[in-house]
Amino acid sequence: MQIIESCVEKFRLDNENLKFEQFIVAEREGSIIGFGRIKPYRHCFELGCVAVLEAYRKRSIGNAIVKKLIKDFPSDDVWITTDIPEYFQRFGFQSTTDAPQEILDKIKRVCQGRQHPNAIIMLLRRK
Ligand SMILES: CC(C)(COP(=O)(O)OP(=O)(O)OC[C@H]1O[C@@H](n2cnc3c(N)ncnc32)[C@H](O)[C@@H]1OP(=O)(O)O)[C@@H](O)C(=O)NCCC(=O)NCCS
Repeated sequence: MQIIESCVEKFRLDNENLKFEQFIVAEREGSIIGFGRIKPYRHCFELGCVAVLEAYRKRSIGNAIVKKLIKDFPSDDVWITTDIPEYFQRFGFQSTTDAPQEILDKIKRVCQGRQHPNAIIMLLRRK
């Protein structure tokens, strides 16, 4: 969790309620080089905190992390909040404003507080 927490700070990702069991990681020679998580709310789940260390980017590691999280997602609706929608469009996410109140609250509380004023909500429906 130390590596994850320091990367979350460095990349200004969502630092709320970070729990080890929410994460999947990509490793190389025993070291974490990327990660992502499924963040639970009371009534929905969010795919978030996707990051790959700079030295390992553009090798489809982010792609593998996002696809694995989508595959294992516990609900049909996969919510994300992001300021790089172009990246997530390729997985089928579409922007929306019609989101659960918890996601609407989160984007105000966390994204704007973490200096992501352009963050938007996106949804992927698995069915
Ligand atoms: C976004 C991130 C996870 C992508 O990881 P990655 O392993 O390099 O991604 P992949 O190799 O699967 O995909 C690379 C592609 O994504 C594109 N991409 C990377 N960052 C992007 C961004 N900020 N906006 C749009 N596209 C982006 C690359 O241009 C590349 O495109 P190509 O396939 O046409 O060459 C990584 O850049 C990162 O950790 N960024 C900082 C943390 C962050 O912003 N996370 C998202 C929070 S919602």
